[in-house]
Amino acid sequence: MTGGSGGTRTVQAPAKVNLSLRVLGARQDGYHDLQTLIVPISLADRLEVHAEPDVSFATLSLSLEVTGDPELVAGVPIDQSNLALKAAAALSEATGVRGFANMTLEKRVPSAAGLGGGSADAAAVLSVLNDLWGCGLDPEGLRRVGAAVGSDVPALMVGGPTIAEGRGERVRPVTCRPLRLVLVTLRFAVSTPDAFAWWDQDGSTGPELDPLLDAASNDASGAFVRGILFNDLEGPVGRRHPEILRTKDLLLRAGVQDAAMSGSGPTVFGIMPSGEERLDARTEAAITERSGWPPRYVQSLSRPGELSAGS
Ligand code: C5P
Repeated sequence: MTGGSGGTRTVQAPAKVNLSLRVLGARQDGYHDLQTLIVPISLADRLEVHAEPDVSFATLSLSLEVTGDPELVAGVPIDQSNLALKAAAALSEATGVRGFANMTLEKRVPSAAGLGGGSADAAAVLSVLNDLWGCGLDPEGLRRVGAAVGSDVPALMVGGPTIAEGRGERVRPVTCRPLRLVLVTLRFAVSTPDAFAWWDQDGSTGPELDPLLDAASNDASGAFVRGILFNDLEGPVGRRHPEILRTKDLLLRAGVQDAAMSGSGPTVFGIMPSGEERLDARTEAAITERSGWPPRYVQSLSRPGELSAGS
């Protein structure tokens, strides 16, 4: 412990999409080995943390308030299963630091949508509290704590485009040019354990990531070949929730470069044609009717810290 002085910090916790997700196989520990290209996006929760370490007490005091659109807030647990609270408790446990942390989360990212909203909150909490509590963990040590909180957390702690492997704990930053994306989040939640259990029943493993990485790292903004985005959970989840496959089809017919489901769904995203800001009005109306929300346009982030805390 390096003696953090406490204070208040406000940060952005960017959500993600998986440009590609390969499930390599089931493991003995109940998880699956993955290889996935994760890119953070400009849709982010806003987290305010007021915290102080307290060396004189043996207590840890954590509180969490969630604000924002009531519909988004309704999907967020505020008990110990909340990943922001889990992350704070795990950091205290790993480092022996005691004190308090009062967190306010302005929720903008839908929960259980395949966008890593809860994991993004956890990643942000770990980085802020490591500082305010003065835990002194290096990035590797902090990522180890993150991996115990959730499989997507280590990749989201990197802050830029990342390949995650193993259960998600082995991360490697990669180059990926900024992309304009359209997101469609359908109105039902998909449980991640269910998605992997369905993959066990009827899933397969998709192609190597190299062609996608080549296309994504290329500065010349050439179009992505259709089928280059890939998610091995899309088939198993889409067979149980055909609306996902219909939505992907709608985006492709509207002219996106390519489309895929993100994570364990149900969010489907597409890469917008270069130079185009939005889909045509008829497609936008069809999406709103289908999902209850208009399509959401976001930018993928190509480097850590790209979103300013105030936005
Ligand atoms: O790590 P996390 O809590 O996000 O994982 C939720 C669930 O998703 C796990 O309990 C497991 O069923 C499944 N999962 C998996 N393999 C991974 C990541 C998640 O099977 N690599």
